[in-house]
Amino acid sequence: MTVSPTTDRRATDRRSTDPLATPPTTLIHAGPDLEGEAALPWWRTAVIYQVYPRSWADSNGDGVGDLPGIIDRLPYLRELGVDALWLSPFYVSPMNDAGYDVADYEDIDPLFGTLADADRLIGTAHDLGLKVIIDLVPNHSSSEHPWFQAALTAAPGSPERDRYIFKDGLGENGELPPTDWKSVFGGPGWSRVTEPDGTPGQWYLHLFDVTQPDFNWRNPDVAAAFLRHMTFWLDRGVDGFRVDVAHSLFKDETFPSWPYGGDLLTPSDLHTGDAPMWDQDEVHDVYRSWRALLDSYGVEGQDADRILCAEAWVTPAERLARYLRPDEMHTAFNFDFVEAGWDADALREVIVHSYASNDLVGAPTTWVLSNHDVVRHASRFGLADPTHRPNGIGVDDEQPDAELGLTRARAATTLMLGLPGSAYLYQGEELGLPDATDLPGEVRQDPTYLRTGQTILGRDGCRIPMPWTLDGPSHGFGPTADTWLPQPQVYGQLAVDQQDGVAGSTLELYRSLLRLRRERHLGAGRIEEVPATAGVLAYIVTAPSGLRTAVVLNAGSTSAPLPLHGEVVAESLPGVTDGHHVRANAAVWLDLGVDG
Ligand code: NOJ
Repeated sequence: MTVSPTTDRRATDRRSTDPLATPPTTLIHAGPDLEGEAALPWWRTAVIYQVYPRSWADSNGDGVGDLPGIIDRLPYLRELGVDALWLSPFYVSPMNDAGYDVADYEDIDPLFGTLADADRLIGTAHDLGLKVIIDLVPNHSSSEHPWFQAALTAAPGSPERDRYIFKDGLGENGELPPTDWKSVFGGPGWSRVTEPDGTPGQWYLHLFDVTQPDFNWRNPDVAAAFLRHMTFWLDRGVDGFRVDVAHSLFKDETFPSWPYGGDLLTPSDLHTGDAPMWDQDEVHDVYRSWRALLDSYGVEGQDADRILCAEAWVTPAERLARYLRPDEMHTAFNFDFVEAGWDADALREVIVHSYASNDLVGAPTTWVLSNHDVVRHASRFGLADPTHRPNGIGVDDEQPDAELGLTRARAATTLMLGLPGSAYLYQGEELGLPDATDLPGEVRQDPTYLRTGQTILGRDGCRIPMPWTLDGPSHGFGPTADTWLPQPQVYGQLAVDQQDGVAGSTLELYRSLLRLRRERHLGAGRIEEVPATAGVLAYIVTAPSGLRTAVVLNAGSTSAPLPLHGEVVAESLPGVTDGHHVRANAAVWLDLGVDG
């Protein structure tokens, strides 16, 4: 659906015969109440950095990152200039899906450390002025969770089985799965258990790996348990939760046929529309109860500032906005932005549509280009068809053009960090890290790879341990050469110490964009679009103070005229503009002065 932006009369009236005057603009989003900027909750404008614990910093040399490693590196985040970090799961887990298979929601896996480490991490981050968001995985547990173990030894129809989705099979002897639903990671979405007496028994639903049984959210025990788990972490001081597959939880009770699916995070047939396992209306009551819990942590007289962020692959954006109604979640990842690829028209459509949809419920928009589930944008944008998003890249696939990919990635980030709202960064994108595209099959760990008969490579390529230094056995990731996935050779040159303080490096670009975004209050701005030539997106972002910044992206293949003029305050690469033109695959920010 296309949403037509309303024309802003105040902006349009600014037309003039002066060639350097602001051209007519179209209002995209009015921004928050300008008077109330001081009281604006942090999460409406925050830049949140995703730390993938197993790949950020390894303190003990076992090849896997850990909480003490993260604590040591927190000052880096402070210096980078982000507001918060989001930690992917650190709970006790057999790690069949890198920790998204939780066996104990109230303890830390020994691989990562201890509860005392978690407390220290939260405290240190807070001392540095950083908020801490943790991952919550409510759709499924690990099959090693005590509840599932109890369900396996209990009888069909028992209260223990009712906490998960167990059903009798079809066919004469129940030998066929109850429905044709597939696992997101490939293969059937149901597995059959052997009953305690040794006979083939019921089937249980797992929308992801066979070791990730789906909870039955119609069972009150499940809802109560998650309120307890959240309380446990809120009492330890976390500032919120990123909610894993927030659009699942409830399944259509009639269990209709749904023969689609298979490829992880391919929204076309999996996560939208009438799918009986996604986006069921009942899920909203859960989030209302969670919001009430978080709000109860508010300080007298102030808005509560603990947040929920939905990972919900839901389209269209109006449907996603239902998760963001005032009594539900605070924010949701904007995956339409990830899906837009390197295409000015698609990006424009997503930007307009995202603001229009979230404005319906008064929620901020978030922006994101990379995470632990998708090929990094420095690699995606280097593919011949950069609108295509593969699920992993291997040696036999087209290899991204590294230079082009990084050039576009820097431009895309320059656009993204200029947009009002909140933004998510994925660890290592500030170094311009590409995906590893040469991982041998035997090191791959993504269940997608294993469940699709090694045909879909999956997400390991974007999860490689961080390079901190050129030297050192694992580029500073840890004290030994062990890394749970091998680091590509190019990671050494891209290490933090190779970019720190180096003018024009990707790291310094991120640092300056984040500093300027804060100084110019872009997150809290109103945004108007300025007409530009094909392939170019041009916006004016006006801060509550009236300070105006032009954000211009040229996603085209040739240099294009700048539709706005002002002092260059940021450029995606040094020298991409002469003040009149902007190069292809580049973005700039211009100072337009203060709105009179
Ligand atoms: C989404 C997470 O981001 C992904 O990494 C995980 O595999 C699935 N949910 C299942 O929990």
